Amino acid sequence: MKELKIFTPATIANVSCGFDVLGLALDTVGDEMTIRKVAEKGVRITKITGQSVPLETQKNVSGVAALALLAEINTDFGFEIEIDKRIKPGSGIGSSAASSAGAVWAINKLLGDPFSTKDLVRFAMEGERLASGVPHADNVAPALFGGFTLVRSYEPLDIINIHTPSELYVTVIHPQIEVKTSDAREILKTTVTLKNAIKQWGNVGGLISGLYTEDYDLIGRSLEDFIVEPIRSILIPAFDLLKLESVKAGALGCGISGSGPSVFALSKGKDTALKVAEAMRIVYDKVGVPYDIHVSKVNKEGIKILESK
Ligand code: HSE
Repeated sequence: MKELKIFTPATIANVSCGFDVLGLALDTVGDEMTIRKVAEKGVRITKITGQSVPLETQKNVSGVAALALLAEINTDFGFEIEIDKRIKPGSGIGSSAASSAGAVWAINKLLGDPFSTKDLVRFAMEGERLASGVPHADNVAPALFGGFTLVRSYEPLDIINIHTPSELYVTVIHPQIEVKTSDAREILKTTVTLKNAIKQWGNVGGLISGLYTEDYDLIGRSLEDFIVEPIRSILIPAFDLLKLESVKAGALGCGISGSGPSVFALSKGKDTALKVAEAMRIVYDKVGVPYDIHVSKVNKEGIKILESK
């Protein structure tokens, strides 16, 4: 194989209660990338369509992630990367993670899989470091592993693939305003009260248990964030109403996707997820901010090959 065209998914980080540790991959939203083995050593970004992101390797998240991988293996050839960027940067659905994860995943494939998926997470985290200043793994891990993932520990890196219930659907509304992850992290407090910590880790445990046992009510009860959402929700127009109307329409729960401004809701079954989309649409039509809405099953495979040469 000399060239791979891939789909690399958008992801929802935090999933309400799991700031920086929980994430899930989407099926219907993502970037497309073409990665090619070339004679010239190093990494070059040769084409970007869809969004305006830097072409310079050192300034592009996929370039930086690819260089982190190549620093750990000797090759006498290099790689070219083309990105069809369909996920807007600053949307809260893992735009930088999709590019970082896609680049290292495809390069690893073209090299014959010398690295483990956990290694790929480590390389892709360098892209996240460039994008937000912090190498968080809660977007790149689900992009690379698929499904739901838990970053049990950052040092040492320990990532767990969590069972995904078969009828779980995601509705995501993306208001067309940009919230930079670095800004959305800046406003957070660096300490939490014991009272909130107790409520939060109860929910993380409840969510994980609900996912494994396919207990949708338990999943819904656990989708609560006492630490980050109260601070960040002020950045999102009509957040409280979106949440209220989503749950009224049948969602199990609703919260901020990653660092926002996207808002996600989980539902049991596609019909309910579509009703939730409608409810979100009604709220946002009144707000007057342009938006996109996506309904997607949880993507259990992660990155997918579209073409290989
Ligand atoms: N966990 C990160 C944050 C995800 O919330 O800042 C960013 O997409």
